[in-house]
Amino acid sequence: MNLKAFSLCLAAILISWPALTKGDVAKIKAEPFAVPLGLPPIPWPINNQYTKKKADLGKLLYFDKRLSSNGTVSCASCHSIPDAFADRNPVSEGILDRKGSRHAPTIFNSAYLTHLFWDGRASSLEEQCKGPLANPDEMTLSNNPHAAHIECHKRVQNIPEYRSLFTEVFGSAECSIDDVAQAIATYERTILSGNSPYDRYKSGDTKAMTQEQIKGYQVFTNAGCSNCHFGFNFTDGRFLNIGIGMEDPSPDLGRYNITKDPKDWGAFKIPTLREVANTFPYMHDGSLKTLEEVIDYYDKGGIPNRNLHPLIKPLHLSLEDKKSLIAFLNALTGERGK
Ligand code: HEC
Ligand code: HEC
Repeated sequence: MNLKAFSLCLAAILISWPALTKGDVAKIKAEPFAVPLGLPPIPWPINNQYTKKKADLGKLLYFDKRLSSNGTVSCASCHSIPDAFADRNPVSEGILDRKGSRHAPTIFNSAYLTHLFWDGRASSLEEQCKGPLANPDEMTLSNNPHAAHIECHKRVQNIPEYRSLFTEVFGSAECSIDDVAQAIATYERTILSGNSPYDRYKSGDTKAMTQEQIKGYQVFTNAGCSNCHFGFNFTDGRFLNIGIGMEDPSPDLGRYNITKDPKDWGAFKIPTLREVANTFPYMHDGSLKTLEEVIDYYDKGGIPNRNLHPLIKPLHLSLEDKKSLIAFLNALTGERGK
């Protein structure tokens, strides 16, 4: 057989080779999962589909301090339920009270994000999850990510109840860091905020928002907020510079640190505004304490710098505009946030 015939033959075999066996298809078929009003279906990754057992396991791991080196910190230490899955500290405190440099964003609706972290350096919840587990400011004492992952996996593996739960969910008692991440990510994708007064208003219930909130919705649009905070999750995932932290002589450069693209200089991910009334303090550095401070910040036109987005300019909002804008932001609190 000459080379051409051989490669044609090989191609034919590869094409006719079933990509997935029947068993695989059954495994990846998602269990039904209902989302609240106003949200689209969750984009479950093909290699990490929802099952209730996996989400339940992820929830146990999410709240379990035994995942950290000295048993003092869990994911929930910085993304806790009473704090709308965000953190009341301006910048998070991890293991041995070590301080990071950024504020913990909410986990609500992170199922829909294509870039995680303020600078977008992770592209899936599975990948993101391995970050804190190996971060010496967060959950581990080790400075080496690989060693930290092995340490963490050993800690989970040493807990007999996890060995049996992992066997049930993943068919193995290995408790690998990838399995830990898959389970936690599955739980995170169930942390959703919808069915807010705003969603009910949008779906035709004109009484769901108060008059003041409806007026605030108009201010939100007219003042240009909706140019950046839009869509069902109030973000399109872009990275922009709105000037936060720019008074610092050596500021956090955000997305620029990842891409080295000048347009990303001092740019941070546009965050969701779902549950925003409960996720204070605000911004990547937690520098603004209240929604009033946020609105005043935008109203004055942010902090000037060489890459400030042109939409960030003095807005001249009246006191009434500001009050109604805050009322509107309060209409984005969903069922779970109450
Ligand atoms: C010590 C506090 C701390 C702990 C513990 C912690 N996080 Fe975070 N988390 C943060 C901070 C701070 C950020 C933002 C960091 C950045 O953008 O550079 C973050 C970012 C995230 C994000 C990205 C959200 C977004 O909108 O981009 C997710 C998801 C997340 N954490 C989940 C977890 C999970 C899961 C765990 C447990 C395995 C965990 N975190 C443990 C503080 C913490
Ligand atoms: C040019 C795009 C842009 C415009 C216009 C804009 N935002 Fe933002 N918004 C962002 C970005 C980017 C951040 C995160 C910045 C950071 O942390 O450095 C942010 C953060 C926020 C936060 C903090 C959320 C959190 O969880 O920390 C709130 C609240 C907010 N914006 C509300 C508004 C309102 C209200 C308006 C209109 C007055 C508005 N935004 C206009 C891009 C924009």
